[in-house]
Amino acid sequence: MRTQVAIIGAGPAGLLLGHLLRAEGIDCVIVERQTRSHVEGRIRAGVLETVTTDLLHRLGIDAGLNAEGLVEDGFNLADHDQLIRIDIARLTGGHVVVYGQTEMTRDLFAAAPERGLEILFEAADVRIHDADGAGPFLSFTREGAGHRLDADFIIGCDGFHGPSRKAIPAAALREYERQYAFGWLGILADVPPCHPELIYANGAAGFALASMRSTTRSRYYIQVPLSGRLEDWPEARLWDVLEARFAPLAEQGVVRGPALEMSIAPLRSYVCETMRHGRLFLAGDAAHIVPPTGAKGLNLAASDVAYLSDALIDHYRRGDESGLTGYQAKALARIWKAERFSWYLTKLMHRFPEDGPFEQRMQSAELQYVARSEAMQTAIAENYIGLPL
Ligand code: APR
Ligand code: PHB
Repeated sequence: MRTQVAIIGAGPAGLLLGHLLRAEGIDCVIVERQTRSHVEGRIRAGVLETVTTDLLHRLGIDAGLNAEGLVEDGFNLADHDQLIRIDIARLTGGHVVVYGQTEMTRDLFAAAPERGLEILFEAADVRIHDADGAGPFLSFTREGAGHRLDADFIIGCDGFHGPSRKAIPAAALREYERQYAFGWLGILADVPPCHPELIYANGAAGFALASMRSTTRSRYYIQVPLSGRLEDWPEARLWDVLEARFAPLAEQGVVRGPALEMSIAPLRSYVCETMRHGRLFLAGDAAHIVPPTGAKGLNLAASDVAYLSDALIDHYRRGDESGLTGYQAKALARIWKAERFSWYLTKLMHRFPEDGPFEQRMQSAELQYVARSEAMQTAIAENYIGLPL
């Protein structure tokens, strides 16, 4: 098999990139390790920046987004029982849209066949060959048979654990990492949200988040130690904590319902500055991870592939290599600012085991400053809606 652009991974980065290239008539094939239903079933964040919704509108894959997306003009931080509203519409003229990554992935899959975007699911043992040579190719196994896919370029959209970053020689990798000593325990349930806008709360027991997917589906999280196990959290115990935490803050009460999903995710900040190795490029979680505070992960994947698709289109249309040459520097400029914001919000809102009463006072002092300072609120709002491309 031969294609122009071989993409590894059918997450948001790979799917958006594939569609953007197909819209310009560029051939590409996505090679995905999992089944379609597995990828569609993954529950991830659901706050889209305008950078991301613009891509969906440009592709015309926006019927679901237009019908079900909730435009949010503000969100809230909480210092104990005090709600601090960040009026993003007034402060920036912008907004974010609540639309689940699950729903977005479903829409991108559904539009693939009619647009000639080929996705090979259940491809095992995907390997990258000759990434820094003139004739790169992938090998993989599917339905018991070995395959080879030759391409002009290979794009690693295979998430943090995929093979593409590992194909870059260790000596060429420039990596930066920060791990956190806690995770987020999340619950998804078909109950109305307790508040019309998201609430990121810092309190005596640490961080909690009230989020949503729609007017009838809620998503909540609480901070838990890394040693925390799901078995320790019967649903009723988690609802008790959420109810106690959000009752003083939210407009409506916390409504309980059976969990559609519960999981614990660790928090990590990570950047691999080596986003290109010859004809191999990295995009999305393959190159960087942010802690979920601020919901930047999916939006950074979208901005990476916006840059990369423009660069590939310039290459094929006009033989202009400048986009490909400049991809890494351009992407990293936006990535580091999103890393900073996600790290800042994480530091501001969580209980760190190494912190004492002084650091907790610092968090409260900062939140009280935010509560009174329009300049601080504007800085937070402009990062939350996403910095321009
Ligand atoms: N071979 C083929 N595909 C693979 C392999 C492999 N060896 N390893 C991983 N993949 C696939 C995964 O199954 C997944 O579908 O790559 C895809 C990577 O998708 P994501 O992890 O979602 O990463 P990305 O597309 O960069 O999206 C980033 O979305 O999932 C969130 O937390 C993530 O918010 C972040 C954003
Ligand atoms: C979510 O709804 O899953 C969500 C929202 C905002 C975040 C993280 C996750 O910052």
